[in-house]
Formats: sequence, C-alpha cells, structure tokens
Amino acid sequence: MLNFTRFAHACLMHRNVISPFHVRRALVRNLSTATFDPTSADKNSAPFSNKKLEAHELLGISSEHWHRPGVWDEKDLRSLRSANQAWANRMRSEGFFSENESRRGHAPKILWIGCSDARVPANEMIGEPPGNVFVHRNIANQVVNTDFNCMSVIQYAVDVLQVKHIIVCGHYDCGGVKAALVNTDHTSPLENWLRNIRDIHQHHFAELSAITDLRTRQRRLVEISTMEQCLNIFKTASVQRRRVATHLQSQEPGSRVTFSEPVVHAFVYDPETGELKKLEVDFKEYMRTYSNVFNLYSVQGAATAETRSAQPIAQAGVRASTKSEEPSLSDIIRDSLENEGSLSKQK
Ligand code: CO
Repeated sequence: MLNFTRFAHACLMHRNVISPFHVRRALVRNLSTATFDPTSADKNSAPFSNKKLEAHELLGISSEHWHRPGVWDEKDLRSLRSANQAWANRMRSEGFFSENESRRGHAPKILWIGCSDARVPANEMIGEPPGNVFVHRNIANQVVNTDFNCMSVIQYAVDVLQVKHIIVCGHYDCGGVKAALVNTDHTSPLENWLRNIRDIHQHHFAELSAITDLRTRQRRLVEISTMEQCLNIFKTASVQRRRVATHLQSQEPGSRVTFSEPVVHAFVYDPETGELKKLEVDFKEYMRTYSNVFNLYSVQGAATAETRSAQPIAQAGVRASTKSEEPSLSDIIRDSLENEGSLSKQK
C-alpha cells in the first residue's frame, strides 16, 4: 500500500500545489522540481532546493515498486483480506471477538489523542489490545476548542466512557510541526490547521527562536505543542466537570474513586527508537495563574440561578463557577498529581 504518511508529508512540504490530488498528478507527470531540506538551519530561508527529484524519491518509496506494473499498492484487496483473516484467527485464539464480549461493548480506561502519522500506532506501542484505548488522531495531535470532532471525542470519553486517563502523544519528526515551521502557504484547510501550531510557536517564540538548529527547534516545538494540548484539555468544560465530580467522590469514605479523573499525560514518541518519553508539565502552576480565565467549575462555589439553568447537566455537588472560589481546579489538579500513581496501577 502506498505509504500515506510519506505521501501526506510530501503534500505538507510541497509549496506549489493545491491539494494531495494535485501533488499526485504533479508527481505522476514528474513535474516536481523542489524538495524539502530538513538540514537547513536558516529559519528565514525557504527550505527548498532546486535539486530535481524523481516522484518515487519524494514519496520515499523504492524505484522498483514505483515502476512495478499493475496494481500500484503493495497490497491488493485480496492480500488485505488474507492478512485480516490471519489476524482475526490469531486474536480469536487469544480469546477476543466472542459473542459475549461484542455484546458487552467497550469500556476503555484510556483516551489517546495522537498524530495521524502512520508510524505512531496508539494501541500497539503501549501494548494494549483492542478494546482498551479510545483513540482520536489528527495532524500533529491538536486539541482545538472549535474542532467538534475532537471535542465530541473528549466529551464522550469523559462523560460516557468515564476514562481515567487521557494521553496526548506527540512525536518527533512530525510533518505537521515541520510544515508549520516553514514560511509556506499549504492552502486551506491544511494551512488553517497548521495555524494552531504557528500560534504555539508565537506563544513560545523567545525559547524557540533561540534554538538555531532547525531539527532541535522542530523537536522542541513538538514537545511544547504536546504540552499545550494537555492544557487545552484542562480548559475543556467536560474535563473540568468530571474532575471536580470525581474529586468530591474521592473524598467520600470507602469510595472506589481515589483520584480526580481523568488524569492527563503528555508523551512524545520517538520514531527512531520506538520509545515514549513522558513530558513534565506544570499543570498546577499554569491553572493557578489562569484560574480566573479558564475555571468553569469549583467544588464549593454556589451557582447563580442563571448559571444553574445554563449548566443543566452539572452533576450533584458540582457548580459552575461564577468567580474565583476555593478549592479551584488548580487545587484539584495539584491534589490529583500528588496522588498520581503509575498509569498501569490506576487503569
Ligand atoms: Co505527526
């Protein structure tokens, strides 16, 4: 099958095209004359050279495969089906896919928000079988407040599935992050999406502009962006509501809830080693600083009649906050971090 990641990255990096279809057409006609140069350290110069590349080189696939007659993809539908059959047989032998299990539905404890990059599979890299991880992926693992897709996933995961953990997983060598670091219009809607990353670049401009090596700057922006997405999760109403509710439950004697849920984790995956690195994020300090801006719920706050009617799904004991009240979300985050155990222990 065509390596879609490399194809998408080729789309991201190509400045003279309008859509992936234009890229493909241009490639097939072998009209491409530009290539991305990731070794360029000069942020002000366009990272393109005039070296003429063969189309298969730009897509990162072998010349032999590119020129193979017949079906373009490595796997045709028959081989996909046989691969699926082998996988299904193996999983059945391990106890998956029984009728009972199917009827029970799924009850994942983890929400995974990761990049669409094909090198970053959610379940596999943390050794979780089907059924354990609720997954949302997009270009550069963004959590955008106006993205109904991502917001719906978070709301469902938190309110209905009641996941205990949310993992935001960025990855080094992220095509979205690299594309947002070049002065190129990747055209709508992709460029609109990349603007989210450019905004993060702006917010951390002093730190990032001090890094002269482009690859190092890309890697740092991956880390910063991942941490910012975690903060975006804390700004989300459904997450705040659930954390306050579970904080109250955890205070009750004999409660099965022992920490504020969900706990948010920032990880970065390195495709060169296959390893995850945990990023240390000071959620506590951030939310304390901006509590008057983002806090929507607090434990003891009394809601006004207006607020109560505007928040009909607020759970018992949880009131929408109208002003700064204690304990605030930042306090709850601090409490939960102090009680935070390992991921494996809590799930
Ligand atoms: Co990526």
